[in-house]
Amino acid sequence: MRILSGIQPSGVLHIGNYFGMMRPAIALQAEGEAFYFIAEYHALTSVRDPQALRENSRRVALDFLACGLDPERAALFRQSDVPQVTELAWILSTVAPMGLLERAHSYKDKLARGMAATVGLFDYPVLMAADILIYDSDIVPIGKDQKQHIEITRDLAVKMNETFGQIFKLPEPRIQAATEVVPGIDGQKMSKSYGNNIDIFGDEKETRKRVMSIVTDSTPVEAPKDSSRSTIFKLYSLVASQNEVAEMRERFQKGGAGYGDFKKQLFEKLWDYFAPMRKRREEILADKTYIDDVLRRGAKRANEVADQVMERVRAAVGL
Ligand code: ADP
Ligand code: TRP
Repeated sequence: MRILSGIQPSGVLHIGNYFGMMRPAIALQAEGEAFYFIAEYHALTSVRDPQALRENSRRVALDFLACGLDPERAALFRQSDVPQVTELAWILSTVAPMGLLERAHSYKDKLARGMAATVGLFDYPVLMAADILIYDSDIVPIGKDQKQHIEITRDLAVKMNETFGQIFKLPEPRIQAATEVVPGIDGQKMSKSYGNNIDIFGDEKETRKRVMSIVTDSTPVEAPKDSSRSTIFKLYSLVASQNEVAEMRERFQKGGAGYGDFKKQLFEKLWDYFAPMRKRREEILADKTYIDDVLRRGAKRANEVADQVMERVRAAVGL
């Protein structure tokens, strides 16, 4: 079974990325052959600073490794080290119906947030389909917001198979039900583009400040509070044990404790949760060649598979 996922190096990774995508991806590396890549071509739709793109790409590799990606089990590579994927994206775009892409939420959302309507932004799901299909992927671990992109991938695979004969496998999304959407400090979906993120490897002072500024309602200290609607409680549930979560739920119901106390408790748990990963990150940073070695080996493995699949595709379409 082949497992594949990608993450854009368009900024610093936050705990929404961790619980929504990285943790499930890391857990899956034990179940099959995992391919994880840094989606730089996708990031080009929003990042226009070459230095930033290069630095972020390295940082994503570092953070992913620090969080537990095991390069002995999973190939980690840069999307741009497998440029064949852009050839496949072109071939897929020749069968991709305009209407299918016009219905994509992420394109409409990005325009609504003020991004310029470029062809690349519109074509983003086709490149993503190529990423997935070029490795004969079976399972794609992603956050819920990416689900439609997998549906588009499947539609394009079916279209190609109907037109040119059986070329592609149909991939399945793997979405973590428990952590469907991680809320940010304002209660909306955590996203770097909303500025409501808590970063995985932020420094202590900044992380505490972000946690302490989580938006709450104005229920007075003594009154009972609704844990099910609280961002503090939702985030705490991700990092605390079942017993600790049950305890906090009770303290919410009982009243007598203020949101400030709950935030402090959340900060402590959150900080402890990522402590082993911070340590691993320091170790990786101390080894100057480690990241480059991992990326080189990952790229080699990814190219082996991509070349085989592209041979099949080229033969099928007549190139
Ligand atoms: P951002 O919204 O910060 O730009 P990305 O779109 O780059 O994040 O998302 C990278 C991965 O992390 C995707 O698989 C996405 O589904 C997941 N992800 C991002 N934010 C969240 C969130 N708040 N909750 C759950 N998963 C998330
Ligand atoms: N679009 C994904 C995101 O923004 C990143 C991505 C690119 C991806 N190609 C992929 C994820 C292929 C899974 C599979 O998060």
